Amino acid sequence: MEIISALKESNLIGLGGAGFPTWQKWRAVKESLGAKRFVICNLSEGEPGVFKDEYILQNHLLELVGGIVLAKETVSAGRAYIFLNDKYRKYLPKINRAVKGKKIEIFIDTGRYLCGEETTLLQTIEGKLRQPRSKPPYPTTSGLYGYPTLINNAETLYRAYLISQGGSDLKRFYSISGDVVSKRIVEEKIGAKIREVIPARFLDQINFVRVSGPSGFFAKPEDFEQIVSGTGAVEIYGKKRKILEGLIDSITFLKNESCGKCTPCREGTYRIAELLNKLIATSSLWDRKEIIELISEIAQTAAVTSFCPLGASIARPVTTAIDNFKQEILGE
Ligand SMILES: Cc1cc2nc3c(=O)[nH]c(=O)nc-3n(C[C@H](O)[C@H](O)[C@H](O)COP(=O)(O)O)c2cc1C
Ligand code: SF4
Repeated sequence: MEIISALKESNLIGLGGAGFPTWQKWRAVKESLGAKRFVICNLSEGEPGVFKDEYILQNHLLELVGGIVLAKETVSAGRAYIFLNDKYRKYLPKINRAVKGKKIEIFIDTGRYLCGEETTLLQTIEGKLRQPRSKPPYPTTSGLYGYPTLINNAETLYRAYLISQGGSDLKRFYSISGDVVSKRIVEEKIGAKIREVIPARFLDQINFVRVSGPSGFFAKPEDFEQIVSGTGAVEIYGKKRKILEGLIDSITFLKNESCGKCTPCREGTYRIAELLNKLIATSSLWDRKEIIELISEIAQTAAVTSFCPLGASIARPVTTAIDNFKQEILGE
């Protein structure tokens, strides 16, 4: 079967966070008009709690390269890039051996979180300011140097290769880390629930989990029927850990990774971080209620007015922490 049809039948979605149907993206690039086309394997993996792409580098590099070559041939791209996080530089000799003669270049970058965002990634390779571009146009029609470009997460390309080899059992890698359970990769179906990726015997030792990193959501054990979406990361916080610890960690990370281009994200993350510290410092229930209201308002504003998905994602950790753990936060 032709690969784009096989991808469609498999229901493979992008595993870098956004979950866009892979076959649609491949078809869009294949059908885009352009004198050249490019393929980029996104191996930026700058989000805390995610280490599945490193696992692929360690254990399935040849299949990943097979996926890049397949993508290149399918969309008629002359050249491909692997956009590699600097923390994975140690794998370079192995990668160089695997890509030899295949017209695949390695681009090593700082590993800053925002550089994994597809348009910031393009800016970075082009040597421009590391800030997102507005969309549309999408990279499928106007990507690297203005040419149609297929950008896929490393695991998406790895899974596409398995599908091309007749694999029908569609799964993904979940990165499990934090307290209670030792750090591990769990391979499960796409769309697995939280309770399906954490061994059952540990469930009663957990206060909450953070799903899909700092821009993701918080869930308590009663809500472990929820699907592990986004990057497939589950970070576990044990019984002694407080939700505000998790929320401060998420907001501090987003504040430090904000590129500063737009006000709602730059100022919003700064103000929320400041308010969270105030929240911890006060024992007045009245003040606490007022502070969480203000935090929610700032986060909601950032969600609808930020320029890129980093700023838009602020509301998710804030809302899920405040809605699900209100009593704990108010100290009632
Ligand atoms: C702030 C931010 C960081 C991102 N970091 C990564 C990353 O490290 N790796 C990745 O594959 N996608 C990352 N993405 C998603 C990419 O923009 C893009 O959607 C993805 O590489 C497309 O591949 P996929 O369709 O195979 O998921 C990030 C998105 C945002 C908004
Ligand atoms: S939302 Fe944040 S990261 Fe995105 S452009 Fe605005 S300041 Fe930069």
